[in-house]
Amino acid sequence: MKIDVNLKKSVDDSYKIEIGDELEKIEIKGKVGIVTNPKVAGLHLKELLSKLEADEVHIITVPDGEEFKSLKSVNSILESLFIHQFDRKSTLIGFGGGVVGDITGFTASIFQRGINFIQVPTTLLSQVDSSVGGKTGVNSRFGKNLIGSFYQPKAVFINTSFLKTLPEREISAGIAEIIKMAIIFDDEFLLWLEEHDVRKSSKNLLYAIRQSIELKAWVVSKDEKEKGLRASLNYGHTFGHVIENEGNYTRYLHGEAVSMGIVMANKLAVEIGDLSQGAFARVVSLLKKYGLPTKYEIQDIETFYDKFFLDKKSSGGKIKFVLPNGIGKFKFHDDIGEETIKKVLEKFI
Ligand SMILES: NC(=O)c1ccc[n+]([C@@H]2O[C@H](COP(=O)([O-])OP(=O)(O)OC[C@H]3O[C@@H](n4cnc5c(N)ncnc54)[C@H](O)[C@@H]3O)[C@@H](O)[C@H]2O)c1
Ligand SMILES: [Zn+2]
Repeated sequence: MKIDVNLKKSVDDSYKIEIGDELEKIEIKGKVGIVTNPKVAGLHLKELLSKLEADEVHIITVPDGEEFKSLKSVNSILESLFIHQFDRKSTLIGFGGGVVGDITGFTASIFQRGINFIQVPTTLLSQVDSSVGGKTGVNSRFGKNLIGSFYQPKAVFINTSFLKTLPEREISAGIAEIIKMAIIFDDEFLLWLEEHDVRKSSKNLLYAIRQSIELKAWVVSKDEKEKGLRASLNYGHTFGHVIENEGNYTRYLHGEAVSMGIVMANKLAVEIGDLSQGAFARVVSLLKKYGLPTKYEIQDIETFYDKFFLDKKSSGGKIKFVLPNGIGKFKFHDDIGEETIKKVLEKFI
């Protein structure tokens, strides 16, 4: 005997992203848990609380740092939710950078099988990238982001005035992700980034954030679960992840590793004839303009090469690369020979 479980469904998980230089009013019914860390709370919690209208608000803090993006932190948030008797109508707000956002989204996705979740990102990286798209999760001792879920927020509130307290190095790291978007999707935006300075005025900053988020939202709406197109956002990351790993995740910020990863990916694109020397040089000088590192020195080619396979996106002995095909376009590659890859790596010793 066979029984069909018919689960064909059409759900509407659409949501709004507010972008501005002031935080919009946030109105929520039911209990609200603001998940944040002591640093962000000290700097900006007052501002969030002044804009939040809710029945009951609890502040839940996790320690600051990537090493606390763990199941242990998730568990401590869950404990608070139980103690304060949160229910299925309650809401969690992720208030902080990508670390807080990823932990909060994941916790919201598993508490009583899923409660509402709102992102209020406070770093440039989280404002242009991680707060949109619904990838949530934590690290395991076996690797980064290995535990998680796809769980979309109900809304995202981006306020650039939070960035006034963000160190310059963190701003640059966020700009690396903006540049990444422009290289693979939008040549006009790349030109704009060359002609303007994102850091110069609030108007420029808002424009750059809006462009990046529009591109990310477009990609996510076409391919939420990363079956195809969304994997393009991994451009610069295949190399970048190895760089982060070799630096024990402490030497470089994620965006810095991505910046060097973009340069390496571009070298490979030049090698296979998909990118001109001129375009390669353009990108290097743009990254430099924003104070980003462009040269990674590989210690050992074999070790570096082997680490490509730690990536959950490389499987079956094949490394999947996203490479620009000129500026503003990209191609996926999973058939570039080991020899070609190592020839390019040799340029970085
Ligand atoms: N979910 C996704 O799609 C996605 C995408 C990209 C990255 N990520 C994840 O995001 C994380 C990195 O995010 P991040 O770069 O925002 O790092 P982060 O969250 O660690 O923040 C960086 C530092 O800035 C501090 N900070 C935050 N806001 C501040 C402010 N306004 N002023 C001063 N200091 C502030 C934080 O406390 C922290 O010390 C990684 O864990 C990465 O895996 C997720
Ligand atoms: Zn990234």
